[in-house]
Amino acid sequence: MGEAGVRAQHQDQADTVGGEEQGMRTQVAIIGAGPAGMFLAHLLHQQGIAAVVIERRDRAYVEGRVRAGVLEQVTVDLMRKLGLADRLEREGLVHGGTNLSLDGALFRIDMAALTGGSTVTVYGQQEVMRDLFDAAETRDLSILWNVDDVQLHDLDGDRPSVSWTERGVARRLDCEIVVGCDGFHGVCRASIPADVLQTFERVYPFGWLGILADVPPVDHELIYANHANGFALASMRSPTRSRYYIQCALDDDVGAWSDDRFWDELCVRLGPTLGERVTRGASFEKTIAPLRSFVAEPMRWGRLFLAGDAAHIVPPTGAKGMNLAVSDVTMLGEALAEFFIERSAAGIDGYSARALARVWKAERFSWWFTSITHRFPDMDGFSRRLQMAELDYIRTSPTAQKTLAENYVGLPLEAA
Ligand code: APR
Ligand code: PHB
Repeated sequence: MGEAGVRAQHQDQADTVGGEEQGMRTQVAIIGAGPAGMFLAHLLHQQGIAAVVIERRDRAYVEGRVRAGVLEQVTVDLMRKLGLADRLEREGLVHGGTNLSLDGALFRIDMAALTGGSTVTVYGQQEVMRDLFDAAETRDLSILWNVDDVQLHDLDGDRPSVSWTERGVARRLDCEIVVGCDGFHGVCRASIPADVLQTFERVYPFGWLGILADVPPVDHELIYANHANGFALASMRSPTRSRYYIQCALDDDVGAWSDDRFWDELCVRLGPTLGERVTRGASFEKTIAPLRSFVAEPMRWGRLFLAGDAAHIVPPTGAKGMNLAVSDVTMLGEALAEFFIERSAAGIDGYSARALARVWKAERFSWWFTSITHRFPDMDGFSRRLQMAELDYIRTSPTAQKTLAENYVGLPLEAA
């Protein structure tokens, strides 16, 4: 593959010549060092494709963000393939089942039995980011932190570039491909002309109030609870650290939720049997997050490719956010290897359609799982009874359970 040659040829980062700022050159410019950007950077590095990651914040900020913590098999597989799974193998909690509760009555979905052995692994996104960043240092991946004012240029030609400022100094990176991994609020999606870009959106009329606390989880598996007062989720980060959520109003004030009030409400929603088993303790993180479904199409325009939250958002019910970013960059990594190594554009030409096929199935699942587990403000008795009937159907039907299980553990990349 001539890796060293490719790198020398493409990553000649000529910096200052004669006192003037010069541009840098690489093959792939990756905007954003979240999960999408960092997984892609490692994938490209493994294949000898030169890349530079350009991130607006610093490592501590990106690593410190508390997000979901359930990894599908595609994510575990990618961490293994990239040689990043040592700690995951030691500390990750493998779950073969998950639980639903309707007004306190619990039932289990045996995901492993229903899917021929598939499982999910509980391992926080913060841990994933730490593993990605630690290995990036060891492997000497190029990451530029704290950059401002990123702008993309000439995306419709075959020599695009990225400009930004770093501590007030204007910089430029010439490349062949730009990948927008800059999340929902990034700049890349907006570089696609308005007459090309289509967006699809649902905003939900509630939020999730989430806490972390160093107390043992109420159960060894997750519990998704539908209660007349609203949704609750019992999750975890480790056998000694719990992550709990309750549905709240969008305009709710975190300050109005003391730890005692949170624990009381969580216990009501989990029902008396489980509620009694909850270990309470001081929370060290308490935030409200809105819920949104969003998809941008296409995920490619000219030499710009979108991956992860830059292209799509799911509500957290089902924990698909990071896993979708991983499936996008797995597909994009294959396509870019074809492009740079085999000099074939077939993969990059098919990327948007291939990625969107899987994205929309995860969108459907996350929307559906949200819709059967939450209280909607406009819900009348009819809608509530339909919701209860649907949960009861899942409880009693192995066929319905199988559908839930195969989506929850994550659809295979190829079936999408
Ligand atoms: N320039 C450079 N970097 C930017 C810019 C910009 N203009 N805008 C945003 N970024 C950076 C952010 O600071 C962030 O670190 O892009 C990164 C985007 O990361 P995420 O929002 O985590 O998006 P993604 O990598 O697609 O992750 C998808 O992980 O964080 C979760 O909720 C997210 O579950 C989703 C999944
Ligand atoms: C979490 O542990 O943060 C979590 C787990 C499952 C979800 C969402 C979030 O569906």
